[in-house]
Amino acid sequence: MNADTPHVNLQDLLGTETAFRAERRAYQPQICPALAEGTGITRPLVGFDLEVLKVASEQLPHVSRNKLLEIVPASSPPSKAAPRRLGIVLSGGPAPGGHNVIAGVFAAAKRAHPDSRLIGFLSGPKGIITNQHTEVTREMVAQHLNSSGFHMLGTGRDKVDTPEKMAQCRQTCKDLELSGLVVVGGDDSNTNAAFLAESLRDLGTQVIGIPKTIDGDLQVPGLLEIPFGYHSACMAFATQIGNLNSDCKSDLKYWHFTRLMGRSASHIALEVAFQTHPNVILIGEEIEENELTIHNVVRLIADVVVERAALGKNYGTILIPEGILEFIHEINILIIKISYIIAAYNREASEEESFHKLSFEEQVQLIDNSDIWRDYDSRVFLGFPSLLQRGLLLPRDAHGNFQYAQVNTERILLEMVSTYLRKQRAKGIYKGSFRTQLHYYGYDGRGSFPTNFDCDYTYNLGFAAYSLLANGATGYMAAIKDLHRPVAAWQPIGIPLAPLMHLEERKGRLELVIQKQRVDLESRAFKFLEQERSRWAIEDLYRFPGPTQFQGPGADARPLTLQLNSLG
Ligand code: FBP
Repeated sequence: MNADTPHVNLQDLLGTETAFRAERRAYQPQICPALAEGTGITRPLVGFDLEVLKVASEQLPHVSRNKLLEIVPASSPPSKAAPRRLGIVLSGGPAPGGHNVIAGVFAAAKRAHPDSRLIGFLSGPKGIITNQHTEVTREMVAQHLNSSGFHMLGTGRDKVDTPEKMAQCRQTCKDLELSGLVVVGGDDSNTNAAFLAESLRDLGTQVIGIPKTIDGDLQVPGLLEIPFGYHSACMAFATQIGNLNSDCKSDLKYWHFTRLMGRSASHIALEVAFQTHPNVILIGEEIEENELTIHNVVRLIADVVVERAALGKNYGTILIPEGILEFIHEINILIIKISYIIAAYNREASEEESFHKLSFEEQVQLIDNSDIWRDYDSRVFLGFPSLLQRGLLLPRDAHGNFQYAQVNTERILLEMVSTYLRKQRAKGIYKGSFRTQLHYYGYDGRGSFPTNFDCDYTYNLGFAAYSLLANGATGYMAAIKDLHRPVAAWQPIGIPLAPLMHLEERKGRLELVIQKQRVDLESRAFKFLEQERSRWAIEDLYRFPGPTQFQGPGADARPLTLQLNSLG
């Protein structure tokens, strides 16, 4: 090394720590007044109608009696709490803010009694089933505060869906002497939480769920506006779409077909549209309401392409929610039937012979031979492009869900729009140039750093979960009411899990699961979209949100969808 070369610490250059990460770690999440001073007490919250289905009260006889609770500060100092042994599990797809839930539970438990312990289960629910765990320490919490991902403990999509797995979970909670278990997850994981709460009752292990999913579809009208992770993921996606807007407005030559994560609802696409003002936005719920076929959807996109081409604009951005296929009736029917056929076949087959070991031709043959498959289904199926046919046959996840993230829906639509435009060109209707780029934003956004909103939200959820446990609740989801308002106005509550459940087709059977909430076409937010989008289609009113703000004027932003919905 030359004597003039300044001293460089290699660790600073190539180590895993970054200046940004260090700065984020220093952010202190705000706590709402109801949780700031102490564990607080719970009391019934009235004025909301939460009905439980008969089948839910049969399968969950105890937890289905739960009433809605609010957490409020105690009027007198609490009597000394005993130390508690609690467990926590992260479940399903990662969502920004998960580590702050752990930090919140940890801080609240230690505040109540310094000898309380928090056990973290590894790799999701499988960690409870097989008793793989680690004790959460103060150092782990400090290291992961305000960070992205679920890597402190890992995650997984296993379901506690057999008596054997439930017995193993009981054994784990008994062996670890857990008085409480916090389950962080989406609809399927909170369903797990309800059944665990019912089963673990006699052991004295209370169970509280936490609403997580970037998809935004775990909502309870008037009580839970949005689960955690949604805002951060939307902001990460909006950054990318804003950048594409900027590029396409400069270079004027590409149509960007962009698929966004969010399988059973279009909440993400809606928020990203408000953030960026694309030329075309598809909302699955609207497509379903208007009973559009895939050819109608293709036409909807192509019409904007043709109209803009007539104005000399051969560029633009198109947002496609990844779950769009589920909202197109003719496709959804096939998804349901094929899921049923796959589940029935796999129940009989050995691991080596499972449906996905068959060749494409064998799979099609098997489907054709099924009793539930009609000639009409075959005609629809064979009329689809091969990419879509193959997509429909992809493996379902552990819960029997169709894996939209694995299907290149943006490519399927692009190919179909391209074919349609060729015909329009032959008729002399379309004279533009159609150069395209494909994008998929999903795993990147769900692995992004949590916004300040999600950091605060998740920290409060952790505290709320602890308060519910300390007050004897089980079979609840911890939630924060009035999220569109400042943290000082947030209201922690406990929502009973049983009334959130409905019957849903899973692996060819009707199962009791928490109902996903789709985009409400009567909501104020959707009405604003309806009002604005025809101008976005033609005029270039692109919005450039830039990277997520962690400091400065935009740092405390809330999702625009929540703000629009809250307007009087
Ligand atoms: P959760 O419902 O578990 O939060 O996951 C949602 C999601 O991110 C979807 O948006 C996406 O379709 C799916 O997970 C992808 O799942 P996987 O991680 O199994 O590929």
